[in-house]
Parts: sequence; structure tokens; C-alpha cells
Amino acid sequence: MTKEDSTTIKEPQLSELPGVGPATTEKLASAGFDTVLSIAVATPGQLTDASGVTEAAARKIIRAARDLMDMGFMSGVDVLEKRKSVNKISVGAASFDALMGGGFETGSITECFGEFGSGKTQIGHILAVSIQKEWPGCYAVYIDTENTFRPERIIELAEGFGLDPQETLRHIKVAKAYNSDHQMLLAEKAEELIKEEKLDVKLVVVDSLTSHFRAEFVGRGTLADRQQKLNKHMHVLGKLADMHNLCVFVTNQVMAKPDAFFGDPTAAIGGHIVAHASAFRIYLRKGRKGSRVAKLIDAPNLPDGECAFFVKSEGLEDIEL
Ligand code: GTP
Ligand code: MG
Repeated sequence: MTKEDSTTIKEPQLSELPGVGPATTEKLASAGFDTVLSIAVATPGQLTDASGVTEAAARKIIRAARDLMDMGFMSGVDVLEKRKSVNKISVGAASFDALMGGGFETGSITECFGEFGSGKTQIGHILAVSIQKEWPGCYAVYIDTENTFRPERIIELAEGFGLDPQETLRHIKVAKAYNSDHQMLLAEKAEELIKEEKLDVKLVVVDSLTSHFRAEFVGRGTLADRQQKLNKHMHVLGKLADMHNLCVFVTNQVMAKPDAFFGDPTAAIGGHIVAHASAFRIYLRKGRKGSRVAKLIDAPNLPDGECAFFVKSEGLEDIEL
């Protein structure tokens, strides 16, 4: 796969809408209507209030925004065509790549969950390095909520991948998220890096997706609020992945399921909200002799399966199962 294969879907601009000149654009943007999508889903009354256009003009603008966003159905052929722009990011271990159908997909969210030390953060680091092999000069955005991003580890891995360590580091934009609101804001800022700073972002890592949410919303009374916020966050991440054909990789802890008599006694935090928003879910666990086992769960177009590997200083090392 080459750089040419990757297509970033161009988002329509406000200026493409009928009767929306620079002054109206500014008024709309300052009221929060800064994308064609936000206008497509607005009511005429909201646009009238925000920009002072007549209600008839507002209706016309909304209709045009809906046409531009192409919010209707796509044929299966169109979906297949769009799938052709999906790229795969290798983790440098053949059996893991094979498990993922060739690598971690762009255009959707991959969730990795597992106990402490199972290798979630390591995979985040590896992906941030590996994208430089595929698309030299592209960027990774790393949202770090647990203060576990290590530039030293990036240097080591870059050497393992035969890349220039300093160049690799330069192409990773790291931000620490101090709480869940900050984390959500950073996900939105990633969009600005792409649109305003014109960075070719191919990967967004959120490590960990759920730790702040889990710490801030304790007790079942606030669970619905937490899920609602998490849902919004996943939506922003999913849209980023889809609109810019980039890979979103999120990590998630597991909690003990005290009521599980059969099967796996652990469950991912965030439940159905996170599970449904993620196209790919990987369950990581510790295997024998220090190995790690990755299991793919409920992938849309891939068989469930497992692979095993060691985390080595230069990257992942395959183990034949
Ligand atoms: P939590 O964030 O605590 O839930 O764990 P995690 O799943 O993110 O685990 P992480 O990826 O941090 O670590 C997994 C394993 O990778 C560790 O137990 C080590 O065996 C290995 N590892 C971590 N850092 C390094 C490193 O710098 N070099 C090498 N060779 N291995 C490492
Ligand atoms: Mg970690």
C-alpha cells in the first residue's frame, strides 16, 4: 500500500451554501454552526437566530447542506468503493497482522481491552511508530490519560522499525488529558490539527479511553451520565476516523464480573457504548512464559481468532500457536 492509496474525504465548506457569504459564515460559526453537518441537522429557527437570515433563506441553506452532506443512503457498490480507501497498519508481527485481516484498519475505531500489563499501551506506541513506515511524514495524535506515553520507548521502537527516531518523535503529537472533559476536548482538537494545521493525521490513540470516566463517575447513580458522555466521545472519534480515513485506537481496562460463573470473569469498561462504536475489538491477556495473547472479538468481516507474541524492545515478536 502506498501513500497514494490513502484518500482523505474532503468535507464541504460553508461557503458552498447558497446565500452564505463571509459575514453570515462568521455569524454562524460564532454560534457554533461551523460545519456543513451542523447546519444540515439544525432547525430553520436556530439558523435565523444565529445569523439573522430569513426563515425561507434558512430552509434553503439547510436543504443545500443536507444535499452536500449526502445524508441519505449509499448503495452497496458505493460502500464497497469507500472500503477500497481503507488502509491497514501493520504492528510488525505477521500473525497479529493476519488476525486483523492485514493490519489495523483506517476509517474506524479499534478497541483493545485487557488487564494491567497486558500490552495495550505498547500497541499504541507501536502503531504510532509503524504508520511512519506506511506513510513517511504523516502524524499520530496521542491522547495520554494515564501519563504512560514514553518518548524513550518510541525511540527504541523506531530503531527496531528501521526509522529515524527523532523524525518519528517529531511526528507524534502528544497531549495529556487531565479529566474526561479535557479528553473530549482533545479529541475535537485533533480535528483542528487536520483542518487548520493541515497535518496528515493517520492515527489517533486514546490511552486509556475509560480511566477518567471510570474515576469520575463512581456509583451506579451516575452511570447513565457517564455512558452518555462516553457515547458522545466515541461519536467524535468515530467521525474523525470516518471523515479523515484514519485509524482510531483506544485502550480500555477490564473489571471483574463477580457474577460470572462461566466464561471469562472480566468485562470491558464502558459496556455496549464502547463495544458498539468500535469496529474491531481485541482482548489482550497474559500468556505463558511472559507472552501476550490477542483475541479478536465480533469483527464485522473477519473470523474470530487468536495470536500470541512477545513484547520485545524492538517491537512485537510472533509466536507460532
Ligand atoms: P495498563 O495500562 O496498566 O492497564 O497496562 P497495559 O496493558 O497498557 O500494559 P503495557 O503495554 O504498559 O505493558 C505491557 C508489557 O509490555 C509489560 O508488562 C512489559 O512486559 C512490556 N513492556 C512495557 N514497556 C516495555 C519496554 O519499554 N520495553 C520492552 N521490551 N517491553 C516493555
Ligand atoms: Mg497502559
